[in-house]
Amino acid sequence: MAKKTTANGKIKPKADAADQLKDFMVDGMKDLYWAEKALVKALPKMSKNATSKTLKASIDAHLKETKTQVTRLEDAFKSLKLKPEAVKCDAMDGLIKEAEGIMEETEPGAVRDAAIIAASQKVEHYEIASYGTLATYAKLLKNKEALNLFLETLKEEKTCDKDLTKLAKSEINLKAK
Ligand SMILES: [Fe+2]
Ligand SMILES: [Fe+2]
Repeated sequence: MAKKTTANGKIKPKADAADQLKDFMVDGMKDLYWAEKALVKALPKMSKNATSKTLKASIDAHLKETKTQVTRLEDAFKSLKLKPEAVKCDAMDGLIKEAEGIMEETEPGAVRDAAIIAASQKVEHYEIASYGTLATYAKLLKNKEALNLFLETLKEEKTCDKDLTKLAKSEINLKAK
């Protein structure tokens, strides 16, 4: 994606560029709405390619949560009296492509499982950063409803990330060695 950069290195804003925190928050919500919906499609592929039953179960459980997170974003749009809108999230698109790439580059079994965990944690960290920022904005803007929705999802993403670390440490990385 080519960015319009002027001679002094500053990026020229698009005609509809956000000039208010609220608009910037909504941009972030559109980005995450796309990302969560893309994950609803990507997670089953990762589960299918996992060998460890615990890893499969963990991905399947997070798929369920992810579907709820899509609904939560729709509710956050509603809290702002806006229709839910998805705008392609280049970062998540890249993370999902990377996940597919590393599955191709690993033999099924413990090594591919380790790769799936690594890719999933990158996804979770992106989500944690994004929902964390949205929560900060919602708090500043005194939108309690959106704030609670973001915090609820943020908690799930953090738990998912911690569970993946535990799983990697307890069985998968050792087997992959
Ligand atoms: Fe999510
Ligand atoms: Fe997640």
